[in-house]
Amino acid sequence: MANIELQSVKGTRDFYPEDMRARTWLFSQWREVASQFGYEEYDVCVLEHEELYIRKAGDEITSQLYNFTDKGDRRIALRPEMTPSLARLVLAKGAALGLPLRWFSLPQCFRYEQAQKGRKREHFQWNMDIVGLAGVAAEAELIAAQVAFLKRTGLNLEADKPDVVWKVSNRQVIQFFLEGLGITGDKFPAVCVIIDKRDKIGNEATIIELTKLGVSSEASVRIIDLLDTSGLEQVAAKVPADNPGLIALQELMSLAQAYGFAHLICIDLSVIRGLSYYTGTVWEVFDATGAMPRAIAGGGRYDKLMEVFGGQPTPMVGFGFGDVVILDILTERGLLPTFTRGIDDVVYPMSATEFTVATRVATFLRSEGRKVVVDYSLRRFKHVIERAEKDGAKRLLIIGGNEVRDGVCVVRTLGAERKEEKIPLSTFGI
Ligand code: HAM
Repeated sequence: MANIELQSVKGTRDFYPEDMRARTWLFSQWREVASQFGYEEYDVCVLEHEELYIRKAGDEITSQLYNFTDKGDRRIALRPEMTPSLARLVLAKGAALGLPLRWFSLPQCFRYEQAQKGRKREHFQWNMDIVGLAGVAAEAELIAAQVAFLKRTGLNLEADKPDVVWKVSNRQVIQFFLEGLGITGDKFPAVCVIIDKRDKIGNEATIIELTKLGVSSEASVRIIDLLDTSGLEQVAAKVPADNPGLIALQELMSLAQAYGFAHLICIDLSVIRGLSYYTGTVWEVFDATGAMPRAIAGGGRYDKLMEVFGGQPTPMVGFGFGDVVILDILTERGLLPTFTRGIDDVVYPMSATEFTVATRVATFLRSEGRKVVVDYSLRRFKHVIERAEKDGAKRLLIIGGNEVRDGVCVVRTLGAERKEEKIPLSTFGI
């Protein structure tokens, strides 16, 4: 066959073994942090019903779907995010699950986005969600888990020039303000989707979009003015003291003090987030140097999603933390650990006659829990050693014809301290 496209699909990645080592390391960090906080792992198929992601508020994610009709005429999508799947699972089992739930997952997600630094058409996402807790203690715990993970990577999270910042807002601040202007019901999520794009489209286009929704230009200007507010005191100066969004932000800050990460939080009403289901706290994690413009992670509270799916009102909050941006940052800052293949022993039969003994030695060592490769290549000794050292092996076990006749094998310690000794084959149960 001629002209087969041999490149990976645009915007997707191939993971060679060295890339897999980094990915496996990242996933194990995520799993360890999630289990430290008592979260249980769940998973679902990457294929979902398209409807889960069709939102009338005009979310960008709906237009980025990888979707198709299957052979049974069903509209299917590759999941662009995990949150609707989580809601589906919770809805299916209902009260039998026993709330609150603390669940995490590591799904691969697909979005037809413009591939650019930090954004691909496929990415893995660490999700942690709490189902059934209405108070901001849930948000504080989730942020604490993100902090715990980022500390492990070696990034600086101390008060002196931290590498990362959490931009936090609460949609209820804006929602209550909008209600005062008569903007209620379905209009609110639609307004959120528009004002989330303000960074990209600018104030003027935002005002035009808002007026199309029926928001007067005078009200639009006031919304934009509110969005430009940052810092808890400034927010408190602009909205009534009984605004539930403001109260939640104040509570969150005092919990952040208790956890010891308040210095990493920046209250910033311009954070809206592009997903229309958020109802309360919303937050994004950014590289504080600004060198990486895309968010490292994002999360929020979505207390109405279960009802949209036909379930009981259920408070839910969580975050998604992508693998792309964090791996770029850690690589650029030299913080990724050096990974080796982690081989303990290479067994080297010098001719095909010694393959059986070599195989038995390897089988014995593996049964002892060691990681063992048998080098069946029959290439020159020099190349065998070079390759074993490159693979990070600690020992080379040389199985030669003369040694086998004498009932021994030569064990050479690799690395800085090279030693050689003869060991009886009986040591390996032969
Ligand atoms: P999101 O902000 O759309 O939220 O995505 C969360 C994170 O996934 C982003 O901050 C980024 O790290 C990563 N990400 C998203 N899109 C891409 C992409 N095209 N390429 C690389 N990385 C990407 C959600 O998905 C929500 N469902 C999170 C959530 C969980 N909210 C509550 N629970």
